Amino acid sequence: MELPFAESYKIKMVEPIKKSTRQDREKWIKEAKYNLFNLKSEQVFIDLLTDSGTGAMSDRQWSALMLGDESYAGATSYFKLKNKIKEIFGYDYFLPTHQGRAAENVLFSATVKEGDIVPGNSHFDTTKGHIEFRKATAVDCTIDEAFDTTLVHPFKGNLDLNKLEDVLKKYPREKIPMIIITVTCNSSGGQPVSLKNIKGVRALADKYGVKVFYDSARFAENAYFIKTREKGYENKTIKEIVKEMYSYADAMTMSAKKDAIVNMGGFIGFRDEELFKKACVYNIMFEGYITYGGMSGRDMNALAQGLDEGTEFDYLETRIKQVEYLGAKLREFGIPFQEPVGGHAIFVDAKKILHNLPKEQYLAQTLAVELYLEAGIRGVEIGTLLADRDPVTRENRYPKLEFLRLAIPRRVYTNNHMDVIAVALKNVFDRRDSITTGYKIVKEAPILRHFTVELEKI
Ligand code: F0G
Repeated sequence: MELPFAESYKIKMVEPIKKSTRQDREKWIKEAKYNLFNLKSEQVFIDLLTDSGTGAMSDRQWSALMLGDESYAGATSYFKLKNKIKEIFGYDYFLPTHQGRAAENVLFSATVKEGDIVPGNSHFDTTKGHIEFRKATAVDCTIDEAFDTTLVHPFKGNLDLNKLEDVLKKYPREKIPMIIITVTCNSSGGQPVSLKNIKGVRALADKYGVKVFYDSARFAENAYFIKTREKGYENKTIKEIVKEMYSYADAMTMSAKKDAIVNMGGFIGFRDEELFKKACVYNIMFEGYITYGGMSGRDMNALAQGLDEGTEFDYLETRIKQVEYLGAKLREFGIPFQEPVGGHAIFVDAKKILHNLPKEQYLAQTLAVELYLEAGIRGVEIGTLLADRDPVTRENRYPKLEFLRLAIPRRVYTNNHMDVIAVALKNVFDRRDSITTGYKIVKEAPILRHFTVELEKI
């Protein structure tokens, strides 16, 4: 008999989590203005708000913390991380930052100006936010297949090379500071980009003389999908695939809170010294000196170790198989979600579930609140609230897809938790026709509103 699959680690430390009653949750979510970000974590039983900074560090990462060198300049921890970045990505230059959006802020300060055009595959909201903040425009060139949630396509994060070339043809070269490839593509459902597609983007970039940057938050999960789905890569190691992926980019921004399995941290990697030098100025202004940039020495040590562990196949297999386990349960219950299952999360198709609700009533948010009320599970809306208003017309932007994202923290929950999530969502799904009203906004910020928005039940 073939042995069943089991995790590639065992548990050394645990943290209690609390159940609550529906009555408690009704009170708490009302006090939170129906915004799940406003809940206290103690009011949550299973927290799927994000997989960012919520992972469990390993014994080796915790021990690396003790060796942190807290010198202001030239710390050994900086060089440890520098060497690891060179080893994993092949880049000679890097700047530490406190997280991913800080890396975007520094890099875009050096590269993006008013009126610029930045094509990419469904830019993440902070990426788009940093582009639009500079009065530039992010143009989505994701393949159309990504917007049909039922369609099974191995690389739904891919860029449509025709759409991309149209953009490159339409605007002068000096208006396009870079093409951004997000690996995996969070906004389209944690969907990977194939190496074939990456090479296609690189070829177009070379033809038009444009740089290519990667938004690298979940680069290792992307490499796992290349290994398991793309012909010719099945016998390569994850580290070999990562090296090849990054050989086609000029620079990278990294939120280390995801695939490097640390609770805080980020960096920018550069192939080119000139761009690195330009960005140094902004790093010193916004983040800190160039050898710590918002991170303590111990954090850089844990990050260097995390980059190593996060690019091991056994860890990644455990990780992705857990997300697939939850996906299989939901599929069994007939719950629609972005197929195939993404790397870090399940993206539940709220439009298909609450199809009677008008889009003006924030259906994915409505579904997120219902799941919280059902079982104390906190997901996040990836829909109209997140999409913000158009910066020019100030009208709501209604994205093609309305998702409830269930992001799975790394090495944190067991498959018993996955079973609870699946049944809770099934219970909401079964009573979907009784959910006839959604929410309206009473207060919102001018940009990145979903974090602080206040809502009222209609
Ligand atoms: N890029 C991608 C693809 C992301 O998913 C994130 C963060 C960032 C950049 C920004 O990084 O949070 O370290 O500043 N995503 C988190 C999420 C917040 O929940 O998906 P950060």
